[in-house]
Amino acid sequence: MENDLRSESRVGRFYGVGVGPGDPELLTLKGARVLRECSVVVVPKKGSHDASYAYSIVRDLIDTGRQELLDLVFPMKKDLDQLVSYWEEAVDEIHRRLIDGKDCVFLTEGDPFFYGTFIYIYRILRERHPEVEMEVVPGVTSLNASAARSCLPLVNGDDRLAVLPATYEGESLRKALQEFDAVVLLKVNSVFDKVLDLLEELGLAEKAVFVKKCTAHDEEIVRDVRSLRGKKLDYLSLLIVRK
Ligand SMILES: C[S@@+](CC[C@H](N)C(=O)[O-])C[C@H]1O[C@@H](n2cnc3c(N)ncnc32)[C@H](O)[C@@H]1O
Repeated sequence: MENDLRSESRVGRFYGVGVGPGDPELLTLKGARVLRECSVVVVPKKGSHDASYAYSIVRDLIDTGRQELLDLVFPMKKDLDQLVSYWEEAVDEIHRRLIDGKDCVFLTEGDPFFYGTFIYIYRILRERHPEVEMEVVPGVTSLNASAARSCLPLVNGDDRLAVLPATYEGESLRKALQEFDAVVLLKVNSVFDKVLDLLEELGLAEKAVFVKKCTAHDEEIVRDVRSLRGKKLDYLSLLIVRK
């Protein structure tokens, strides 16, 4: 790490750090140390002019005089071939720094292994460059933080939890809502009204809580989810249905 002041042959380590859901105090001590010690901080973005939410959470810990910020663009596309080319290019950029002996840390909002772009990078890097040492530092997920902020114990005893990432095609959402004790819907913003229809049909609208940007300064928690019908909702929002 610090002595990435390197022996010629040393390959840098690659870290994925979960920076938590918004409140900078929810970053782990280990995550903070890794962030300070790596010489390259990889900042994933949706577009080259977009701000990074993950970076905004940890900005105060990073010394841009000493650390390189490597912005990498991962657009929100559905076309897998196009996405793969972005991931592969990103891996090449990161690998160039690693073989230079630089430790690199990839920022992930929430947790890296919980629906994070990091997962694709991790897999490709592992497959192409198995010699690179990697470490994942977990983070507080939006799911855990939203449950805590909305004072909603998620599951206990024999309860079962389902997490659905937005593409609630066919009967899968209905089934999950009927079969599980708690259901968390990520990326709910674009399909909210359809989800609300189903919640009303199943008599579950009162059991749902909507959480936007949990733990951030502009967090919103909405218990009357019917009031959100027809509204434009933030991508960083989820719905918890607790029966
Ligand atoms: C690609 S997933 C990333 C999940 C993230 N890695 C985590 O551990 O929470 C993006 C979705 O997570 C949820 N999400 C992420 N951050 C959030 C936050 N601060 N508040 C509420 N929901 C959030 C939203 O549903 C968003 O559409």
